[in-house]
Amino acid sequence: MHIEKCGPDQIPQWVALRCALWPGEDHGAMAREAPGMLAQRDQLVLLAREGDAVTAFAEAALRRDYVNGCETSPVAFVEGIYVTPDARGRGVARALIAGVTQWAKDQGVTELASDALLDNEASHAMHKALGFCETERVVYFRKGLD
Ligand SMILES: CC(C)(COP(=O)(O)OP(=O)(O)OC[C@H]1O[C@@H](n2cnc3c(N)ncnc32)[C@H](O)[C@@H]1OP(=O)(O)O)[C@@H](O)C(=O)NCCC(=O)NCCS
Repeated sequence: MHIEKCGPDQIPQWVALRCALWPGEDHGAMAREAPGMLAQRDQLVLLAREGDAVTAFAEAALRRDYVNGCETSPVAFVEGIYVTPDARGRGVARALIAGVTQWAKDQGVTELASDALLDNEASHAMHKALGFCETERVVYFRKGLD
């Protein structure tokens, strides 16, 4: 298994994995915004490759707004991580987070943050196994103003 930065040639595989992680999102928009995301200096996209198959991705970014539970700013934030079902349980997420951690250190930040839905217990367990501490549980609200 190799962890590598996503290059322009791998955008279709990356977008396919993003669509699997966020099935409710606009997949056309995801494909359109992907090249621009790769060009951002304060964002990272890592892929896990096994042979010719891309089996996982992780995205991270520097967040300059307040991040719940953090003590410094900016911090690095895991914006998304997804491993295809067949590749799970073999350390792929661990390797991706190691890559994200190195990138975060290289950016000069001292905290790496992340989030997960309240009912995603597999993700909670993964985060704890990979050295994250739970900080806060929040519920978002919205009110339309039209
Ligand atoms: C969560 C996910 C990324 C884990 O990927 P993975 O490659 O299977 O994880 P790893 O094999 O690298 O495991 C890393 C650690 O997390 C733990 N872990 C991973 N999945 C777990 C699970 N389902 N239950 C309990 N612990 C788990 C492992 O035990 C391991 O710890 P260890 O090395 O001390 O044993 C993967 O299941 C996934 O893509 N799920 C769907 C998408 C998702 O929920 N993403 C997170 C959104 S916040």
